[in-house]
Amino acid sequence: MTLHLPAPLSASQWCNEQRLLQKSIGYVPTMGALHPGHLSLIEQAQRENDVCCVSIFVNPLQFNDPDDLIGYPSNLDNDIRLLESAGCHMVYTGTLGEFFPEVEDIHQIDSCDPGPAAKGLEGNYRPGHLQGVYQIVERLFTTVGDCRAYFGEKDFQQTLVVKNLAEKMQQTGTNVEVIVCPTVREPSGLAMSSRNTKLGDAHSCTAALIYKALGKAKSAWQQGIRVAEKLEDIMLDTLQHPDLKVEYAAVRDPNGWTENSPDYPLKQAQALIAAHLGGVRLIDNLCLSDDLLE
Ligand code: PAF
Repeated sequence: MTLHLPAPLSASQWCNEQRLLQKSIGYVPTMGALHPGHLSLIEQAQRENDVCCVSIFVNPLQFNDPDDLIGYPSNLDNDIRLLESAGCHMVYTGTLGEFFPEVEDIHQIDSCDPGPAAKGLEGNYRPGHLQGVYQIVERLFTTVGDCRAYFGEKDFQQTLVVKNLAEKMQQTGTNVEVIVCPTVREPSGLAMSSRNTKLGDAHSCTAALIYKALGKAKSAWQQGIRVAEKLEDIMLDTLQHPDLKVEYAAVRDPNGWTENSPDYPLKQAQALIAAHLGGVRLIDNLCLSDDLLE
């Protein structure tokens, strides 16, 4: 199948036609520069639905750092090739103007409250980022309409924000079921990310410290440690490296998200890390309170 890149309006029509044909839609929103993590979302979307569609749009609203936007990797021809061979049925894109036809320039886009899950961590270190995600995902969901939408767990805080958005959109008649899929990792444990292409070989070993630190927090949890601060210290110890600039190594209650570390013994816990290495910002997280050994 040859994939074209329709704009949002035509993509919307395509999705409506699929629903008229009683076909369920699996949808994977992306910013392109596709890697095996994206492909695993697409595979799951295909397994669980009649048709699968993908969007590729590098959303300027979610970049708090203009240099990060300029340097964001892009390889559209390769993306299309990958999507064709993965058997994806439709891939669409758009311009900011097409997603927000009601405004003449980007500054007129209504600000919105991305909800309590946007507080702390990414909310602190990337001001406006999760609001930008919320704004575009609302438009992406409106374009596709009722569907199952697949997101990677690597962007854990994003998944919480997007789940809240889907709940809100349900009240106005758009039914999107958000499905969070496991993080796909390199053999070293490094979470796959489009940004990893910018990490030189020299930094790959150091980058693996992030997953190592998450693993240590998990072992400590399994030994009975339930205090966020102690688990955080364990991660920080492992992350000590001259090239690694840690923004946060935090533990949160995934079901009761708080801006700061919870000050009560945890029943459920998610450990989350953000760090800069060789000019690349890396994030990762791990559920401490399930029994899965990744
Ligand atoms: O996770 C991403 O790739 C982006 O944040 C998303 C969800 C496609 C919104 O631009």
